[in-house]
Amino acid sequence: MIGQLDSLLEQLDALQARAIEQLEPIETSAELEEWDNTYLGRKRGELTNLSSVMGKLSKDVRPVIGQKINAVKAELTERLATKKEALRQREMLQALEQERIDVTLPGRALPAGHMHPISRAIWDVTQIFVKMGFHVVDGPEVETDYYNFQALNMPADHPARDMQDTFWVSPGQILLRTQTSPIQIRAMQQMRPPVRVVAPGKVYRNEAIDASHEAMFHQIEGLLIDEYCTMGDLKGCLERVARELFGEGRQIRFRGSYFPFTEPSAEMDMDCPICAGKGCRTCKHTGWIELLGCGMVHPRVLREVGYDPAKYRGFAFGLGPERVAMLKYSIGEIRLFSGNDLRFLKQF
Ligand code: FA5
Repeated sequence: MIGQLDSLLEQLDALQARAIEQLEPIETSAELEEWDNTYLGRKRGELTNLSSVMGKLSKDVRPVIGQKINAVKAELTERLATKKEALRQREMLQALEQERIDVTLPGRALPAGHMHPISRAIWDVTQIFVKMGFHVVDGPEVETDYYNFQALNMPADHPARDMQDTFWVSPGQILLRTQTSPIQIRAMQQMRPPVRVVAPGKVYRNEAIDASHEAMFHQIEGLLIDEYCTMGDLKGCLERVARELFGEGRQIRFRGSYFPFTEPSAEMDMDCPICAGKGCRTCKHTGWIELLGCGMVHPRVLREVGYDPAKYRGFAFGLGPERVAMLKYSIGEIRLFSGNDLRFLKQF
């Protein structure tokens, strides 16, 4: 009996000594896990194997061996925990070392974009009107025949429809708006006078493209309705805007024109900056570039939206921001704006 006890105790001591010896050089968590399985593993661990002989031991020996097994287990478990913590610390330090960021390094400069010259022109123009007390409003690019033409005093078969070659979505009914003027109608339907709005947006015309004409371009619509308003207010307002945009040195002229929704109607031109008014391809050899169409809102249009033309009057205009950008930066070719050539766009 004594022999059996001594031999078991020796085995346990030897097991503990071997386990500790093997634990020392372990460097990785994987190795540590293997060690854990080998000695302390609940299924095939050596300590567990030894515990399984307990049942066969005599009553006197059993508690002694039981205590010894528990002591070895406690010793190994504690060493395992210490080693685990040491490895964790080391692995964390290694990760920190590898992923170290030098916050003193200079940053990488990301290429920054900037506003497109047409967006810039739209912004500049609308800001001038906002300062004058106008609100910015919006409308759909796909419009009905009613808003784009009929409500603007252009019934079907009106010859003025030919001035704006139309892209039809559904012939006679739905179209890509040819002008921003339909927004006038929508604004007046929603507001009561006094009205002061500007409405920038894209417009589409199926027309011959040249140095100053695109098939898709922008307009900024403006509308002012009040009890008292004259052609003098229209001229004064638009001239002021042109001076704010281009400075005092430029030539401006108003020229009588025709739009079915205004009476009287006019167009405002500016001296061509490409040829300094001498005549060139951009100004079609006239020396002038047309900036906007305008006029006093036609009584029929007022009546259409339920305004009393005897009480209210107003002015409206439609201005081309592509033309503003051309005049401002002396650009002789409108197609450059939609060409998306970065060498061109980077200059602004
Ligand atoms: C109109 O579109 C009218 N709706 C303007 C208007 C509004 C008049 C309110 C009266 C009252 P027009 O077709 O002339 O008018 O165009 C107005 C402006 O848009 C022109 O002065 C020009 O600056 C610009 N524009 C016209 N056609 C083109 C085009 N194909 N490419 C670039 N800009 C254009």
